[in-house]
Amino acid sequence: MPKAWIQDRKRDYYYKKAREEKYRSRASYKLIQAVKKYDFIKYGDVVIDLGAAPGGWIQVAKRIIGNKGFILGVDLKPIEPFPQSYVRTIVGDMTERETLEQILELLPRKADVVISDASPNISGIWEVDHARQIDLAQQALEISYETLRPHGNFFVKAFQGDLLDDFIQKMRKHFQTVKIIKPAASRAKSSEIFLLGLNLRQLPD
Ligand SMILES: C[S@@+](CC[C@H](N)C(=O)[O-])C[C@H]1O[C@@H](n2cnc3c(N)ncnc32)[C@H](O)[C@@H]1O
Repeated sequence: MPKAWIQDRKRDYYYKKAREEKYRSRASYKLIQAVKKYDFIKYGDVVIDLGAAPGGWIQVAKRIIGNKGFILGVDLKPIEPFPQSYVRTIVGDMTERETLEQILELLPRKADVVISDASPNISGIWEVDHARQIDLAQQALEISYETLRPHGNFFVKAFQGDLLDDFIQKMRKHFQTVKIIKPAASRAKSSEIFLLGLNLRQLPD
């Protein structure tokens, strides 16, 4: 890792806060801030977390849902297990059908919320990274159609760029309300934003 990057990270407010508050990643604060404003995860909810490693969002969501809820984290990488029986994690590629089948098998019922912070390995070539990120967001959206209950919520990371508008339009077809969010914990210089789809519509088959 480049030295400057390591130094930047050490100076970073949310990085330090995450270490002090024992969150597995600074990304936790992005979810905390978004939920504080829009209240889209509730006590007792069933939640799917896509691209969940190392588990910072799981830590946040599990506190909200409590032991009447259930959360399933999915990532290409293994996630250090959580002791609570209502927190499950699996290693899987969210772009593969087999992973969706595994998710459906493990859910106690349809999900109330799907969250996705999944992001590709960054190549540094902006167009490539944007396109790969939108592909993952698209994949998360498709998983949400198959796993969410009617009126469920969907929260997903995207990178700004040419393909974003089309993606937002797709979300608008399926969710009654779509919000574009840039949490304070998301670095201002990053093109990352989050999209929140509230209230999944019941579409005709
Ligand atoms: C920014 S990290 C997620 C951080 C997490 N929200 C947290 O708070 O700890 C993005 C994750 O997306 C995962 N990812 C990327 N492509 C994936 C795929 N096709 N299937 C599953 N996970 C994927 C990566 O392995 C990485 O762990």
